[in-house]
Amino acid sequence: MIKSLQNQITQTEQTFETDVKNAQSIEQLEHVRVAFLGRHGKLTELMKQLRGLSTDDKRVVGPQLNQLKTRMQEVYEQKEQQLLKSQQDEQNQHKKDFDVTLSRKQDVTGGLHVYTQIIRQLEDIFISMGYSIADGPEVETGYYNFETLNIPKDHPARDMQDTFWLNVPDMLLRTHTSTVQAHVMETTQLPLAVFAPGRVYRNEATDASHNFMFMQAEGLFIDKNVSMSNLLATAEQFLQAIFERDDLSIRVRPGYFPFVEPGVEIDAECPFCTDGCSICKKTKWIELLGAGLVHPNVLKTSGIDQEKYSGFAFGFGIDRIAMIKHNIRDIRLFQSSNLEFLKQF
Ligand code: PHE
Repeated sequence: MIKSLQNQITQTEQTFETDVKNAQSIEQLEHVRVAFLGRHGKLTELMKQLRGLSTDDKRVVGPQLNQLKTRMQEVYEQKEQQLLKSQQDEQNQHKKDFDVTLSRKQDVTGGLHVYTQIIRQLEDIFISMGYSIADGPEVETGYYNFETLNIPKDHPARDMQDTFWLNVPDMLLRTHTSTVQAHVMETTQLPLAVFAPGRVYRNEATDASHNFMFMQAEGLFIDKNVSMSNLLATAEQFLQAIFERDDLSIRVRPGYFPFVEPGVEIDAECPFCTDGCSICKKTKWIELLGAGLVHPNVLKTSGIDQEKYSGFAFGFGIDRIAMIKHNIRDIRLFQSSNLEFLKQF
C-alpha cells in the first residue's frame, strides 16, 4: 500500500513538472493546475488514499504528500511568473513597434459621376424656376425623333444629325432630347414647363469634342402668350446659376432648327475671362444653347391649339457645360473608366 502510494507521489511530481514545463500560455498552465491541484485533481486523490493507511504509515507518507503539495505550488508559481512576464514583454514590444507615422492604404470609396453632379445642379435650378423633370426613351421611333419635330421623311434636316438606326424598321437611338417634347405634350396638361436631361447618340467619328454618346438636356415651356423674351430671361437665369456668376450676359444669334420658329443660338459671356482665353477660344463668348419658339407644326402634331398657346424650347449639351465648368479638355473622358479623371469630382 505504502509503496504504491509513494510511487504515485514520485510519478505525480514528475508528470506535473513536465506538464508545467510544456505549458505555453497562462491558459494551458491553468489546465495543468486544475488537473493536479484542483478540487478533484490528482493531489486530492492521493490525499484520499492516505486515509486507508495505518497510523505509522500515515506519519511517513503524510509529510511526503505535504512536501509534494508545496513543491507543486512552487513549480506552478514560478512558471506563472515566467509566463506573465513574457506576456508583458510581448505587449511592450508591440507598443514599441507601433509606428504612429505609418499610413494605411485608404479603402476606395465611391462618388457621384460628374454627369450626375451636373444633372442634379441643373435639375435644382429648373425646379427652382417651377419646372418639373421629365424623361423619355433612348430607343425611339422616327416619329418622335423627327416627325413630331417638323422633320418629315426625306427632309434634308434628317441628315443634320447622323443617326444610329436599329435593325427594326423606323427605330433608332435618339439623336437629341427634343424627342421628349412630343411625349410631354401628349401627356401633360397645359401650361407646362419641363426639363429633360438624358443620353443621346450620334453616329459620328469621335474626337476631343465629339462623342457617339453624350448627355443633353431639353427645356420646354408652353403657356398663353409665351414670347422670345421669356426664353431669353430663362436662358440667362439658368446660365448665370450654373456658372455661378450673376453678372453673366448672353448673346443671341439666328439659328436653324426645324422645330422652332424663330430659331436662335444662345451664347454666354465667357465666365473665365474678359479678353479672350483658351476656353472661349479667344472669342469671349461660348456657344451653348439651341433654342427658339416652338414651331406651330410641332404644337399641331401634338394636338395643341396654336392659336391659343405658344411656347419655347431649348436644348444643350451637358458634357459641354461640364467641360467649361471644370476645364475638361476631352469629352471622351466622361465615358471612360479613367479613375484619375473621375476621382477629381
Ligand atoms: N435638339 C437640338 C440639337 O440637338 C437643340 C435644340 C433644342 C434646338 C430645342 C432648339 C430647341 O441640336
